[in-house]
Amino acid sequence: MDIPAEIKKFYVTTPIYYVNDVPHIGHAYTTVAADCVARYRRLKGCEVLFLTGTDEHGQKVEKAASNAGVGPLQFADRVVVRFQELWEALNISNDDFIRTTEKRHRRAATRLWETVVEKGDIYLGEYEDWYCTPCESFLTETQLKDGKCPDCGRAVDKLREPSYFFRLSRYAAPLLEQISANPDFIRPESRKNEIVNFIKEGLRDLSVSRTTFSWGIPVPDGPGHVMYVWFDALTNYLTATGYPDSSGDGFWPADLHLIGKDILRFHAVYWPAFLMSGGLPLPRSVFAHGWWTVDGNKMSKSKGNVVDPVEVIGRFGADQFRYFLLREVPFGLDGDFSLQALKGRVNSDLANDLGNLLSRSVTMIEKYRGGVVPRPSPSENPESIVSLIRDFNNLPEEFDGLMDSLRFSDALLVPWRFISALNGYIESSAPWKMAKDGADAPLSNVLYNLAEGLRIIALYIYPFMPGSAEKIWEQLGMGRKIEGIDNLDVEINWDGSGDKVAGNTVKKGPVLFPRIAD
Ligand code: ME8
Repeated sequence: MDIPAEIKKFYVTTPIYYVNDVPHIGHAYTTVAADCVARYRRLKGCEVLFLTGTDEHGQKVEKAASNAGVGPLQFADRVVVRFQELWEALNISNDDFIRTTEKRHRRAATRLWETVVEKGDIYLGEYEDWYCTPCESFLTETQLKDGKCPDCGRAVDKLREPSYFFRLSRYAAPLLEQISANPDFIRPESRKNEIVNFIKEGLRDLSVSRTTFSWGIPVPDGPGHVMYVWFDALTNYLTATGYPDSSGDGFWPADLHLIGKDILRFHAVYWPAFLMSGGLPLPRSVFAHGWWTVDGNKMSKSKGNVVDPVEVIGRFGADQFRYFLLREVPFGLDGDFSLQALKGRVNSDLANDLGNLLSRSVTMIEKYRGGVVPRPSPSENPESIVSLIRDFNNLPEEFDGLMDSLRFSDALLVPWRFISALNGYIESSAPWKMAKDGADAPLSNVLYNLAEGLRIIALYIYPFMPGSAEKIWEQLGMGRKIEGIDNLDVEINWDGSGDKVAGNTVKKGPVLFPRIAD
């Protein structure tokens, strides 16, 4: 299929995560969503740059390191491995992993700073107000809620120190213009309104350097100052495209910054303002997803209810966890995690619906056709296939539309409608009866249609559950892997032409999704 030239390259990012703590379900969520987008775009023929990484500077990381009794870089070196191992366990296909302590990043942040200085957007002053270290954010007295950080509810510090300021106030009007001219710039819509209101309340110049600690990128020609960790961190998205050396091999501007709602202001106000000041194009879209609670409670260390993704993967499986994260909650809304809900999804959607369809189909092909997918003769199609074809006709278009708007949960309903249709088709066509009655041609058709249907389903679920999708392909005897396909074709091949699955030798494997016991 043809992909418009402007999206032939697709650049998607996750936030870079702080290394003050080990990864939890929230980090896994954004990264899995980004992986799903990246895999889908690759299937569609895009050249994808998928970036994730770690945010290693700043006061919060420095504090965590000093509590652990080691230097900040040594501390980061230790924690970064936990993130990298988790992404491997979750089958994350990132093309690059950036650490803000890398030399390439220091160069990029320094260059962006210099460009902003050349534009006349940075001046020296003194910051005297509040600071929330857990959020690494500057706050005014009026923004505080009961004397605490309005975002995370934790204690704030009073700062008084010399600081460089960025002329954010200059950018209120251009930002509002950008938002209204580009409907997809901030998604979802409800979050966009939040940002518009924030800008309309008036933007104060932003403090962009600190002097009371030193764990950061030094400000060029600003002895004693390190860059504000958010100026440093946001620039990572440029660093990975080769900035400042090249124009980024065509990957800048980013197509999609995926983030949690907690850090939207940084991405939809500060970041575009820095870029405008630097004379650089703005990202096409920032999507802020919702927040996970656990058994109805906010996740926190003190409550001891932080969900460790490694544990969940060990107990339920990586694809099971990925599926749950993207299926359970409409992307953009808040959601609740519970082991009960996860177990329910695994047992019903995965084990009952999809797992059974696969195992019944492969078993019947082995039993009735010696394991070789028969060639169909469409004139012999039983009546039931007519409604199946009708049900399927609009699915590809519907799926693409939902994936474009990041409605993962609804997009998953598309293959699942097809899965139940195929399960119903088995019941209604009763192949075991056909075998008994010697209805050879109709039986071949049913078996072929099941194999072909499963082939299509594997393609659809691949971005969500890549490991399981590949296993389905293997069981269908597809030969090559799904990974590497760059012309997603989900036209179903009802008449058996094109040799996609007819003639393949199927190979029954272990149960795809074992049921979870109580
Ligand atoms: O903010 N539910 O890093 P961070 C859903 N370093 N998502 C959650 C979540 C939850 N309960 N908790 C965290 C930072 N997240 C900065 C980012 S980017 C230039 C710098 C996810 O380690 C969500 O994506 O605090 C959120 O935005 C991110 O983790 C924050 O990770």
